[in-house]
Amino acid sequence: MQADSWNRVLRNATLASCAAGEPAAGLRERAAIAVGGDRIAWIGADRDLPALPDAVEVVDAGGALVTPGLIDCHTHLVFAGNRAPEFAARQRGASYEDIARAGGGILSTVRATRAASEEALLALALERARVLMTEGVTTLEIKSGYGLDLDNELKLLRVARRVGEILPVTVHATLLAAHSVPPEFAGRADDYVDLVVATVLPAAVSAGLADSVDAFCETIAFSPAQVRRVLDAARRHHLPVRLHAEQLSNSHGAALAAGAGALSADHLEHLDEAGAAAMAAAGTVAVLLPGAFYFLGETRVPPVGLLRRHGVPIALASDFNPGSSPLLSLRLAMNMGCVLFGLTAEEALAGVTRHAARALGLDDRGTLEAGMRADFVVWDAARPEELAAQVGTPRPRATFRAGQPPG
Ligand code: NIG
Ligand code: FE
Repeated sequence: MQADSWNRVLRNATLASCAAGEPAAGLRERAAIAVGGDRIAWIGADRDLPALPDAVEVVDAGGALVTPGLIDCHTHLVFAGNRAPEFAARQRGASYEDIARAGGGILSTVRATRAASEEALLALALERARVLMTEGVTTLEIKSGYGLDLDNELKLLRVARRVGEILPVTVHATLLAAHSVPPEFAGRADDYVDLVVATVLPAAVSAGLADSVDAFCETIAFSPAQVRRVLDAARRHHLPVRLHAEQLSNSHGAALAAGAGALSADHLEHLDEAGAAAMAAAGTVAVLLPGAFYFLGETRVPPVGLLRRHGVPIALASDFNPGSSPLLSLRLAMNMGCVLFGLTAEEALAGVTRHAARALGLDDRGTLEAGMRADFVVWDAARPEELAAQVGTPRPRATFRAGQPPG
Protein backbone atom coordinates (compact mmCIF):
# COMPACT_ATOMS: atom_id res chain seq x y z
CA MET A 1 0.00 0.00 0.00
CA GLN A 2 1.65 3.25 -1.16
CA ALA A 3 -0.07 6.11 0.63
CA ASP A 4 2.56 8.47 -0.88
CA SER A 5 0.78 8.31 -4.21
CA TRP A 6 -2.66 9.03 -2.75
CA ASN A 7 -4.33 12.42 -3.23
CA ARG A 8 -7.27 12.09 -0.89
CA VAL A 9 -9.00 9.75 1.50
CA LEU A 10 -12.69 9.68 2.32
CA ARG A 11 -13.16 8.00 5.68
CA ASN A 12 -16.06 7.15 7.98
CA ALA A 13 -18.11 6.25 4.91
CA THR A 14 -20.75 3.59 4.36
CA LEU A 15 -19.53 1.98 1.15
CA ALA A 16 -21.80 0.04 -1.20
CA SER A 17 -19.11 -1.51 -3.38
CA CYS A 18 -21.56 -3.20 -5.81
CA ALA A 19 -18.76 -5.71 -6.45
CA ALA A 20 -19.64 -9.16 -7.79
CA GLY A 21 -20.11 -11.88 -5.24
CA GLU A 22 -20.44 -9.53 -2.25
CA PRO A 23 -23.67 -9.83 -0.29
CA ALA A 24 -26.05 -6.90 0.28
CA ALA A 25 -24.46 -4.57 -2.27
CA GLY A 26 -21.08 -5.16 -0.59
CA LEU A 27 -21.96 -2.81 2.24
CA ARG A 28 -19.18 -1.79 4.62
CA GLU A 29 -19.58 0.69 7.43
CA ARG A 30 -16.78 2.85 8.90
CA ALA A 31 -14.88 2.30 5.71
CA ALA A 32 -12.41 4.36 3.73
CA ILE A 33 -11.70 4.90 0.07
CA ALA A 34 -8.37 6.32 -1.09
CA VAL A 35 -7.94 8.08 -4.43
CA GLY A 36 -4.66 8.27 -6.33
CA GLY A 37 -4.87 10.15 -9.62
CA ASP A 38 -7.99 8.99 -11.45
CA ARG A 39 -8.14 5.60 -9.69
CA ILE A 40 -9.34 4.06 -6.47
CA ALA A 41 -5.99 3.30 -4.85
CA TRP A 42 -7.21 1.47 -1.78
CA ILE A 43 -10.40 0.52 -0.04
CA GLY A 44 -10.86 -0.94 3.43
CA ALA A 45 -11.82 -0.41 7.05
CA ASP A 46 -10.99 2.96 8.63
CA ARG A 47 -8.97 1.20 11.28
CA ASP A 48 -6.73 -0.40 8.63
CA LEU A 49 -5.74 2.92 7.05
CA PRO A 50 -1.98 3.42 7.05
CA ALA A 51 -0.29 6.54 8.41
CA LEU A 52 -1.02 9.25 5.88
CA PRO A 53 1.48 11.80 4.55
CA ASP A 54 0.44 15.43 5.24
CA ALA A 55 -0.21 16.02 1.55
CA VAL A 56 -3.12 13.59 1.54
CA GLU A 57 -6.43 15.38 2.00
CA VAL A 58 -8.64 13.52 4.48
CA VAL A 59 -12.40 14.01 4.47
CA ASP A 60 -14.77 12.61 7.10
CA ALA A 61 -17.91 11.41 5.33
CA GLY A 62 -19.90 11.38 8.58
CA GLY A 63 -21.24 7.89 7.87
CA ALA A 64 -22.68 8.89 4.46
CA LEU A 65 -23.40 6.30 1.81
CA VAL A 66 -20.88 6.07 -1.05
CA THR A 67 -21.71 4.19 -4.25
CA PRO A 68 -20.03 3.85 -7.62
CA GLY A 69 -20.92 6.65 -10.04
CA LEU A 70 -24.21 5.85 -11.74
CA ILE A 71 -24.16 4.68 -15.36
CA ASP A 72 -27.08 5.36 -17.71
CA CYS A 73 -26.40 2.72 -20.37
CA HIS A 74 -29.29 3.47 -22.78
CA THR A 75 -30.33 6.99 -23.81
CA HIS A 76 -31.41 8.79 -26.97
CA LEU A 77 -30.24 12.13 -25.60
CA VAL A 78 -29.70 14.05 -28.85
CA PHE A 79 -32.89 15.21 -30.54
CA ALA A 80 -34.93 18.35 -31.17
CA GLY A 81 -38.58 19.01 -30.45
CA ASN A 82 -40.89 17.04 -28.24
CA ARG A 83 -43.76 14.63 -28.68
CA ALA A 84 -46.22 15.90 -26.12
CA PRO A 85 -48.98 16.09 -28.80
CA GLU A 86 -48.50 12.36 -29.42
CA PHE A 87 -48.75 11.69 -25.72
CA ALA A 88 -52.05 13.57 -25.80
CA ALA A 89 -53.17 11.49 -28.82
CA ARG A 90 -52.29 8.28 -27.00
CA GLN A 91 -54.36 9.43 -24.03
CA ARG A 92 -57.26 9.79 -26.48
CA GLY A 93 -56.79 6.17 -27.58
CA ALA A 94 -54.18 6.06 -30.38
CA SER A 95 -51.44 3.46 -29.98
CA TYR A 96 -47.67 4.02 -30.28
CA GLU A 97 -47.64 1.73 -33.35
CA ASP A 98 -50.61 3.56 -35.00
CA ILE A 99 -48.82 6.88 -34.59
CA ALA A 100 -45.57 5.42 -35.97
CA ARG A 101 -47.32 3.90 -39.01
CA ALA A 102 -48.97 7.26 -39.74
CA GLY A 103 -45.53 8.90 -40.05
CA GLY A 104 -45.39 10.28 -36.52
CA GLY A 105 -43.43 8.73 -33.69
CA ILE A 106 -39.71 8.42 -34.35
CA LEU A 107 -40.13 10.08 -37.76
CA SER A 108 -41.62 13.24 -36.29
CA THR A 109 -38.51 13.59 -34.13
CA VAL A 110 -36.38 12.87 -37.22
CA ARG A 111 -37.96 15.84 -39.02
CA ALA A 112 -37.29 18.18 -36.09
CA THR A 113 -33.77 16.85 -35.56
CA ARG A 114 -32.74 17.09 -39.21
CA ALA A 115 -33.91 20.71 -39.21
CA ALA A 116 -31.88 21.58 -36.10
CA SER A 117 -28.30 22.84 -36.27
CA GLU A 118 -25.47 20.95 -34.62
CA GLU A 119 -25.02 23.83 -32.15
CA ALA A 120 -28.69 23.84 -31.22
CA LEU A 121 -28.64 20.08 -30.66
CA LEU A 122 -25.49 20.41 -28.60
CA ALA A 123 -27.09 23.00 -26.34
CA LEU A 124 -30.08 20.72 -25.76
CA ALA A 125 -27.92 17.67 -25.16
CA LEU A 126 -25.66 19.49 -22.69
CA GLU A 127 -28.64 20.69 -20.70
CA ARG A 128 -30.03 17.14 -20.52
CA ALA A 129 -26.69 15.55 -19.64
CA ARG A 130 -26.28 18.06 -16.80
CA VAL A 131 -29.64 16.98 -15.37
CA LEU A 132 -28.51 13.34 -15.30
CA MET A 133 -25.19 14.38 -13.77
CA THR A 134 -26.97 16.08 -10.87
CA GLU A 135 -28.27 12.60 -10.01
CA GLY A 136 -24.74 11.19 -9.75
CA VAL A 137 -24.41 9.91 -13.33
CA THR A 138 -20.73 9.65 -14.30
CA THR A 139 -21.03 7.57 -17.50
CA LEU A 140 -23.67 7.96 -20.17
CA GLU A 141 -24.54 6.11 -23.36
CA ILE A 142 -25.95 8.28 -26.16
CA LYS A 143 -27.46 6.84 -29.34
CA SER A 144 -27.93 8.48 -32.70
CA GLY A 145 -31.06 7.37 -34.56
CA TYR A 146 -32.97 10.59 -35.23
CA GLY A 147 -30.88 11.53 -38.27
CA LEU A 148 -31.38 8.48 -40.48
CA ASP A 149 -29.10 9.70 -43.27
CA LEU A 150 -25.34 9.98 -43.50
CA ASP A 151 -24.92 13.64 -42.60
CA ASN A 152 -27.52 13.73 -39.86
CA GLU A 153 -26.43 10.50 -38.15
CA LEU A 154 -22.85 11.81 -38.07
CA LYS A 155 -24.14 15.15 -36.77
CA LEU A 156 -25.81 13.38 -33.83
CA LEU A 157 -22.72 11.30 -33.05
CA ARG A 158 -20.51 14.42 -33.12
CA VAL A 159 -22.87 16.06 -30.64
CA ALA A 160 -22.64 12.98 -28.40
CA ARG A 161 -18.83 13.11 -28.53
CA ARG A 162 -18.79 16.83 -27.76
CA VAL A 163 -20.95 16.28 -24.68
CA GLY A 164 -18.21 13.99 -23.34
CA GLU A 165 -15.51 16.53 -24.20
CA ILE A 166 -17.28 19.51 -22.65
CA LEU A 167 -18.65 17.88 -19.49
CA PRO A 168 -16.84 15.67 -16.98
CA VAL A 169 -18.89 12.63 -17.90
CA THR A 170 -17.81 9.64 -19.99
CA VAL A 171 -19.94 9.32 -23.13
CA HIS A 172 -20.30 6.01 -24.96
CA ALA A 173 -21.65 6.87 -28.43
CA THR A 174 -23.81 4.32 -30.24
CA LEU A 175 -24.73 4.37 -33.92
CA LEU A 176 -28.46 3.60 -34.17
CA ALA A 177 -28.94 4.39 -37.85
CA ALA A 178 -31.24 1.35 -38.07
CA HIS A 179 -33.80 2.93 -35.73
CA SER A 180 -36.57 3.50 -38.28
CA VAL A 181 -36.93 3.55 -42.05
CA PRO A 182 -36.58 7.20 -43.13
CA PRO A 183 -39.36 8.73 -45.26
CA GLU A 184 -37.23 8.85 -48.42
CA PHE A 185 -36.86 5.04 -48.18
CA ALA A 186 -40.53 4.32 -47.37
CA GLY A 187 -41.33 0.78 -48.51
CA ARG A 188 -37.64 0.15 -49.25
CA ALA A 189 -36.24 -0.88 -45.88
CA ASP A 190 -33.66 -3.19 -47.48
CA ASP A 191 -32.28 -0.33 -49.55
CA TYR A 192 -31.94 1.77 -46.40
CA VAL A 193 -30.10 -1.09 -44.69
CA ASP A 194 -27.76 -1.11 -47.71
CA LEU A 195 -27.03 2.57 -47.07
CA VAL A 196 -26.43 1.95 -43.36
CA VAL A 197 -24.10 -0.98 -44.00
CA ALA A 198 -22.20 0.42 -46.97
CA THR A 199 -22.03 4.11 -46.13
CA VAL A 200 -23.19 5.34 -42.72
CA LEU A 201 -21.50 2.71 -40.56
CA PRO A 202 -18.10 2.86 -42.33
CA ALA A 203 -18.16 6.68 -42.17
CA ALA A 204 -18.95 6.65 -38.45
CA VAL A 205 -16.13 4.17 -37.90
CA SER A 206 -13.56 6.08 -39.90
CA ALA A 207 -14.46 9.32 -38.10
CA GLY A 208 -14.05 7.51 -34.76
CA LEU A 209 -17.57 8.51 -33.78
CA ALA A 210 -19.12 5.18 -32.75
CA ASP A 211 -18.28 2.97 -29.77
CA SER A 212 -21.01 0.45 -30.58
CA VAL A 213 -23.86 -0.23 -32.99
CA ASP A 214 -27.54 -0.72 -32.17
CA ALA A 215 -30.69 -1.46 -34.19
CA PHE A 216 -34.45 -1.63 -33.55
CA CYS A 217 -35.73 -5.14 -34.22
CA GLU A 218 -39.51 -4.78 -34.37
CA THR A 219 -42.48 -5.07 -36.71
CA ILE A 220 -42.59 -1.26 -37.01
CA ALA A 221 -38.83 -1.05 -37.62
CA PHE A 222 -36.40 -3.72 -38.96
CA SER A 223 -36.82 -7.46 -39.45
CA PRO A 224 -34.40 -9.96 -37.90
CA ALA A 225 -32.82 -10.52 -41.33
CA GLN A 226 -32.24 -6.78 -41.78
CA VAL A 227 -30.92 -6.41 -38.24
CA ARG A 228 -28.54 -9.29 -38.81
CA ARG A 229 -26.98 -7.45 -41.75
CA VAL A 230 -26.38 -4.39 -39.57
CA LEU A 231 -24.89 -6.42 -36.71
CA ASP A 232 -22.68 -8.40 -39.10
CA ALA A 233 -21.37 -5.19 -40.63
CA ALA A 234 -20.61 -3.81 -37.17
CA ARG A 235 -18.64 -6.92 -36.32
CA ARG A 236 -16.67 -6.62 -39.56
CA HIS A 237 -15.70 -3.13 -38.38
CA HIS A 238 -14.78 -4.56 -34.94
CA LEU A 239 -17.53 -2.63 -33.18
CA PRO A 240 -19.51 -4.19 -30.34
CA VAL A 241 -23.27 -4.46 -30.85
CA ARG A 242 -26.46 -4.13 -28.85
CA LEU A 243 -30.12 -4.39 -29.83
CA HIS A 244 -33.58 -2.99 -29.09
CA ALA A 245 -35.31 -6.36 -28.85
CA GLU A 246 -38.65 -7.86 -27.85
CA GLN A 247 -40.15 -4.50 -26.84
CA LEU A 248 -43.58 -4.65 -28.50
CA SER A 249 -43.58 -8.23 -29.85
CA ASN A 250 -41.36 -11.30 -29.88
CA SER A 251 -39.18 -11.15 -33.00
CA HIS A 252 -36.48 -13.36 -31.43
CA GLY A 253 -34.14 -10.39 -31.46
CA ALA A 254 -32.56 -11.31 -28.13
CA ALA A 255 -31.29 -14.64 -29.47
CA LEU A 256 -30.12 -12.87 -32.62
CA ALA A 257 -28.23 -10.31 -30.53
CA ALA A 258 -26.73 -13.00 -28.31
CA GLY A 259 -25.64 -14.95 -31.38
CA ALA A 260 -23.76 -11.84 -32.52
CA GLY A 261 -22.07 -11.63 -29.11
CA ALA A 262 -23.99 -8.47 -28.22
CA LEU A 263 -23.06 -6.50 -25.13
CA SER A 264 -26.75 -6.03 -24.38
CA ALA A 265 -30.30 -6.69 -25.51
CA ASP A 266 -32.65 -3.97 -24.35
CA HIS A 267 -36.37 -3.68 -23.41
CA LEU A 268 -37.24 -7.45 -23.51
CA GLU A 269 -40.88 -7.31 -22.39
CA HIS A 270 -41.65 -10.17 -24.83
CA LEU A 271 -38.47 -12.21 -24.20
CA ASP A 272 -38.94 -15.99 -24.22
CA GLU A 273 -36.95 -18.72 -22.52
CA ALA A 274 -34.83 -19.52 -25.58
CA GLY A 275 -33.85 -15.85 -25.77
CA ALA A 276 -32.92 -15.74 -22.08
CA ALA A 277 -30.85 -18.92 -22.41
CA ALA A 278 -29.03 -17.53 -25.45
CA MET A 279 -28.28 -14.30 -23.61
CA ALA A 280 -26.93 -16.20 -20.61
CA ALA A 281 -24.67 -18.31 -22.82
CA ALA A 282 -23.31 -15.24 -24.62
CA GLY A 283 -22.95 -13.07 -21.51
CA THR A 284 -25.33 -10.51 -23.03
CA VAL A 285 -26.71 -8.06 -20.45
CA ALA A 286 -30.48 -7.52 -20.21
CA VAL A 287 -31.10 -3.77 -20.13
CA LEU A 288 -34.59 -3.14 -18.74
CA LEU A 289 -36.27 0.16 -19.53
CA PRO A 290 -39.22 0.73 -17.21
CA GLY A 291 -39.68 4.30 -18.48
CA ALA A 292 -40.83 3.07 -21.91
CA PHE A 293 -43.08 0.45 -20.29
CA TYR A 294 -44.61 3.14 -18.10
CA PHE A 295 -45.14 5.86 -20.71
CA LEU A 296 -46.58 3.45 -23.28
CA GLY A 297 -48.94 2.01 -20.68
CA GLU A 298 -47.67 -1.49 -21.36
CA THR A 299 -49.02 -4.35 -19.33
CA ARG A 300 -46.54 -7.10 -20.11
CA VAL A 301 -43.50 -6.88 -17.84
CA PRO A 302 -40.11 -8.29 -18.82
CA PRO A 303 -39.64 -11.85 -17.48
CA VAL A 304 -37.39 -10.98 -14.56
CA GLY A 305 -37.74 -14.46 -13.03
CA LEU A 306 -36.51 -16.03 -16.25
CA LEU A 307 -33.53 -13.68 -16.37
CA ARG A 308 -32.66 -14.49 -12.76
CA ARG A 309 -33.02 -18.21 -13.32
CA HIS A 310 -30.67 -18.11 -16.29
CA GLY A 311 -28.22 -15.83 -14.50
CA VAL A 312 -28.52 -13.02 -17.07
CA PRO A 313 -27.11 -9.78 -15.63
CA ILE A 314 -29.84 -7.14 -15.40
CA ALA A 315 -29.13 -3.45 -16.02
CA LEU A 316 -31.58 -0.56 -15.79
CA ALA A 317 -31.52 2.61 -17.87
CA SER A 318 -33.63 5.71 -18.48
CA ASP A 319 -34.08 5.16 -22.26
CA PHE A 320 -34.47 8.93 -22.27
CA ASN A 321 -36.11 9.87 -25.60
CA PRO A 322 -38.95 12.17 -26.66
CA GLY A 323 -41.45 9.44 -27.53
CA SER A 324 -41.56 6.27 -25.52
CA SER A 325 -39.59 7.44 -22.49
CA PRO A 326 -39.39 11.19 -21.85
CA LEU A 327 -37.83 10.33 -18.50
CA LEU A 328 -34.71 12.27 -17.67
CA SER A 329 -34.02 10.45 -14.44
CA LEU A 330 -32.01 7.31 -13.85
CA ARG A 331 -33.04 7.40 -10.20
CA LEU A 332 -36.71 7.23 -11.14
CA ALA A 333 -35.88 4.35 -13.52
CA MET A 334 -34.39 2.52 -10.50
CA ASN A 335 -37.57 3.01 -8.53
CA MET A 336 -39.73 1.96 -11.49
CA GLY A 337 -37.56 -1.13 -12.01
CA CYS A 338 -38.51 -2.14 -8.47
CA VAL A 339 -42.17 -1.09 -8.39
CA LEU A 340 -43.15 -2.03 -11.96
CA PHE A 341 -40.81 -4.95 -12.71
CA GLY A 342 -40.31 -6.41 -9.24
CA LEU A 343 -36.56 -5.94 -8.98
CA THR A 344 -35.03 -5.82 -5.54
CA ALA A 345 -33.43 -2.57 -4.38
CA GLU A 346 -30.03 -4.28 -4.62
CA GLU A 347 -30.72 -5.40 -8.17
CA ALA A 348 -31.70 -1.84 -9.07
CA LEU A 349 -28.41 -0.50 -7.73
CA ALA A 350 -26.35 -3.20 -9.46
CA GLY A 351 -28.38 -2.41 -12.58
CA VAL A 352 -27.11 1.17 -12.76
CA THR A 353 -23.55 0.37 -11.68
CA ARG A 354 -21.85 -2.99 -12.24
CA HIS A 355 -24.21 -4.42 -14.83
CA ALA A 356 -24.60 -1.10 -16.66
CA ALA A 357 -20.81 -0.91 -17.00
CA ARG A 358 -20.81 -4.38 -18.47
CA ALA A 359 -23.58 -3.43 -20.91
CA LEU A 360 -21.17 -0.77 -22.21
CA GLY A 361 -18.19 -3.12 -22.27
CA LEU A 362 -16.41 -1.01 -19.63
CA ASP A 363 -14.43 -3.10 -17.15
CA ASP A 364 -12.82 -0.18 -15.31
CA ARG A 365 -15.92 1.07 -13.49
CA GLY A 366 -19.25 0.17 -11.94
CA THR A 367 -17.83 -1.09 -8.62
CA LEU A 368 -15.82 0.35 -5.75
CA GLU A 369 -12.65 -1.72 -5.85
CA ALA A 370 -8.96 -0.88 -5.83
CA GLY A 371 -7.77 -0.21 -9.37
CA MET A 372 -11.14 0.94 -10.68
CA ARG A 373 -11.72 4.43 -12.00
CA ALA A 374 -12.48 6.77 -9.09
CA ASP A 375 -16.05 7.61 -10.15
CA PHE A 376 -18.18 7.63 -7.02
CA VAL A 377 -21.03 9.44 -5.32
CA VAL A 378 -21.33 10.53 -1.69
CA TRP A 379 -25.05 10.56 -0.91
CA ASP A 380 -27.23 12.33 1.60
CA ALA A 381 -28.22 8.84 2.67
CA ALA A 382 -27.13 6.10 5.02
CA ARG A 383 -28.36 2.98 3.23
CA PRO A 384 -28.22 1.92 -0.45
CA GLU A 385 -31.91 0.96 -0.45
CA GLU A 386 -32.78 4.65 -0.16
CA LEU A 387 -31.71 5.18 -3.78
CA ALA A 388 -34.43 2.89 -5.13
CA ALA A 389 -37.02 3.36 -2.41
CA GLN A 390 -37.40 7.11 -2.80
CA VAL A 391 -37.82 9.56 -5.67
CA GLY A 392 -36.38 13.08 -5.63
CA THR A 393 -34.42 12.33 -2.50
CA PRO A 394 -31.75 11.47 -1.37
CA ARG A 395 -29.49 13.75 -3.39
CA PRO A 396 -25.80 13.39 -4.14
CA ARG A 397 -23.74 15.42 -1.70
CA ALA A 398 -20.67 15.15 -3.91
CA THR A 399 -19.84 13.29 -7.11
CA PHE A 400 -16.18 12.38 -7.77
CA ARG A 401 -15.35 11.94 -11.45
CA ALA A 402 -12.06 10.23 -12.31
CA GLY A 403 -10.85 11.16 -8.83
CA GLN A 404 -11.79 14.83 -9.15
CA PRO A 405 -14.03 16.26 -6.46
CA PRO A 406 -16.92 18.52 -7.51
CA GLY A 407 -16.34 22.13 -8.50
O1 NIG B 1 -36.01 2.84 -26.98
N1 NIG B 1 -37.72 1.47 -29.25
C1 NIG B 1 -37.19 2.24 -30.03
N2 NIG B 1 -36.63 3.39 -29.75
C2 NIG B 1 -36.95 4.18 -28.63
C3 NIG B 1 -38.14 4.99 -28.90
C4 NIG B 1 -37.80 6.15 -29.68
C5 NIG B 1 -38.94 7.08 -29.95
O2 NIG B 1 -40.13 6.75 -29.78
O3 NIG B 1 -38.59 8.19 -30.35
C6 NIG B 1 -37.04 3.34 -27.38
O4 NIG B 1 -38.10 3.17 -26.77
FE1 FE C 1 -34.23 3.01 -26.72
